Amino acid sequence: MKTPIDFYWFSGTGNTLLAVNRMAEIFRKSGSEVFLHKIEKTKSEEISLDNIIGLAFPVAYQSTYPVVWNFINKLPKTGKETRIFMVDTLMAFSGGVVGPLRAILQKKGYRTIGAKEISMPNNFLPVKVNPDNNRKKVGKGLLAAEEYAHSILRGTSRWGRIPLLSDLIF
Ligand SMILES: Cc1cc2nc3c(=O)[nH]c(=O)nc-3n(C[C@H](O)[C@H](O)[C@H](O)COP(=O)(O)O)c2cc1C
Repeated sequence: MKTPIDFYWFSGTGNTLLAVNRMAEIFRKSGSEVFLHKIEKTKSEEISLDNIIGLAFPVAYQSTYPVVWNFINKLPKTGKETRIFMVDTLMAFSGGVVGPLRAILQKKGYRTIGAKEISMPNNFLPVKVNPDNNRKKVGKGLLAAEEYAHSILRGTSRWGRIPLLSDLIF
């Protein structure tokens, strides 16, 4: 039987949740059990270390929100090489998330199996939003989410980083 996936997510304006739902759909189609959990309603100390863990969050101010960092910082250490992957959504540039997050998780004993940043519109901008462009961007982002989910299933996903740059920004 496949290892179940616990997908912990936070989404401010909905983009990240769209990506999470699309990825969950792909995982379920492949026969995996997927459980979605809101980060803000979950105690890190109580998560299962036997399942595969997914983390999903938006980029904000070239990092992410404190509620997400609090959740991550309080994740328990694991002696089981618990597999973990991340996905974030962003408008353009995250800088200080992917690399530092990998370092934190590896120090706690997790096996970091994949990281992906997905471009999405900024729903918060007070400028004239072009709905057609936004729809296209969301469509492209969701295709990227699908492809990423498939790569996790195939075991070809990677958690890359740009060490110096991301550490400096972090
Ligand atoms: C307060 C705020 C700060 C943001 N900061 C960044 C940023 O630093 N870099 C970036 O590329 N996008 C940034 N964005 C865009 C969001 O990351 C992007 O729209 C994301 O998909 C939002 O996800 P959500 O709908 O799940 O909250 C920001 C958006 C908001 C509302």
